[in-house]
Amino acid sequence: MKTLEDVKQYFFNIIEDPDYIVLEPKKNIKNLLILDPGLFHIATCRSGISKIDGENGRLYYRGISIEKLVDNQDFIDVAFYIIGENISDAQSKDKFNANVRKYFCLSPELKAVLDSIPAGIHPMSFAAIGITTLSSVESKYLENQDDLKEKAKFIIAQMAVIAAYYYLKLHNKEWIKEDADQSIAYNFLNQLFHDQIKYDLPVMSKIFNKVLILHAEHDQNCSTATVRAIASAGGDIYSAVAAGIAAFKGNLHGGASQNVAEMYEEFLLHNLDVNDYVNEKLKNKQRLMGFGHRIYSCWDPRAKIMLNMLNANEFKDPMVDAYKSIALKLIARVGSDEFFIKRGIYPNPDLLNCIFYKLLGVPSSMNTVMLAVSRVAGWVAHYIEHVNDKLPIMRPCQLQK
Ligand code: ACO
Repeated sequence: MKTLEDVKQYFFNIIEDPDYIVLEPKKNIKNLLILDPGLFHIATCRSGISKIDGENGRLYYRGISIEKLVDNQDFIDVAFYIIGENISDAQSKDKFNANVRKYFCLSPELKAVLDSIPAGIHPMSFAAIGITTLSSVESKYLENQDDLKEKAKFIIAQMAVIAAYYYLKLHNKEWIKEDADQSIAYNFLNQLFHDQIKYDLPVMSKIFNKVLILHAEHDQNCSTATVRAIASAGGDIYSAVAAGIAAFKGNLHGGASQNVAEMYEEFLLHNLDVNDYVNEKLKNKQRLMGFGHRIYSCWDPRAKIMLNMLNANEFKDPMVDAYKSIALKLIARVGSDEFFIKRGIYPNPDLLNCIFYKLLGVPSSMNTVMLAVSRVAGWVAHYIEHVNDKLPIMRPCQLQK
């Protein structure tokens, strides 16, 4: 068997698609395996939630470009849209948003569990415990516990609650009364920083809202695929999101934001030289955090938007300037280095999102949980789509060593 025709005839159906050559294995072929450990060429589902154009650096949530969404939407309205609702249905959108804001509260049951967690735990592990606990709390809050979209709203709000409560515990602060008339971004920052007189809450909430939207969804990445794997096995949505959190924590994935922040801190503390730093990384065959992406072979649009936000320089914060200056030097070095050019390596969002978290005032250990407050919108949307599409249990194969 030597030609594509042979392969087609014996092993695969070819599926029509505008973007890809799609091969679907014919059923019941004995002993046919595709060896692809990184799943570079495997699609496990069809999805309408988001679309990435990796060659041109474009990202769309249900057909709308993120450039359009980031400027004039509330994060929860975007979550509503990602979940599959009609964004121009103002009445349903407002109801959804009001529901999520109502769910932004700390129940005594969740508080008791979170208070029992020993200090020193990583915020992402704290979040996974919190989200898993919600399955035993929902009966007190949800009118219809069979409605996945209601659970999704509850989880989106509670992810923000859990992340905020992590910060409060770390700083020996108490949960304060929420304001259901305010956005999630505002309520979150108000919990953390209401007692800091100089903190400009409305301005910071606007910035945080944009960062939330930019990271809300990103098709089949490692954590989303993990959420879908749990959904495929019939696992509940809380367990699926907790598993997504565990995957996201990894430093090649959402964990990179914390690593990049620590890198900036190291640069400033020891007055490091960017070229020496990158040379050392390459010499030791280590990865430069905040660069590279499986799908984009150009600038990631989210990183581009964040760089534009930083360049607009509305913040007048010297720390932001110091971080940005290192980021720009790294970008210049990577952009002119044969090693990175040959491999198509560009900045990814983690190079820059950590600068915004620094600006907001959260510690770098919390960067990944801040990203999870966004990404939970995508996770719940994918869980719901997977369940509704009734896809089979994910069961990869292995070859013998
Ligand atoms: N620094 C140095 N080399 C890199 C980097 C990097 N950041 N990224 C990729 N490479 C190199 C690899 O060493 C490899 O080189 P080789 O061909 O000589 O072996 C080549 O580029 C291809 O790398 P892969 O690992 O095959 O690429 P993959 O698509 O699997 O990896 C990933 C993507 C994991 C994001 C990678 O670029 C990376 O590790 N980046 C650093 C961590 C990071 O910033 N992660 C955040 C990603 S965005 C997010 O999840 C929110």
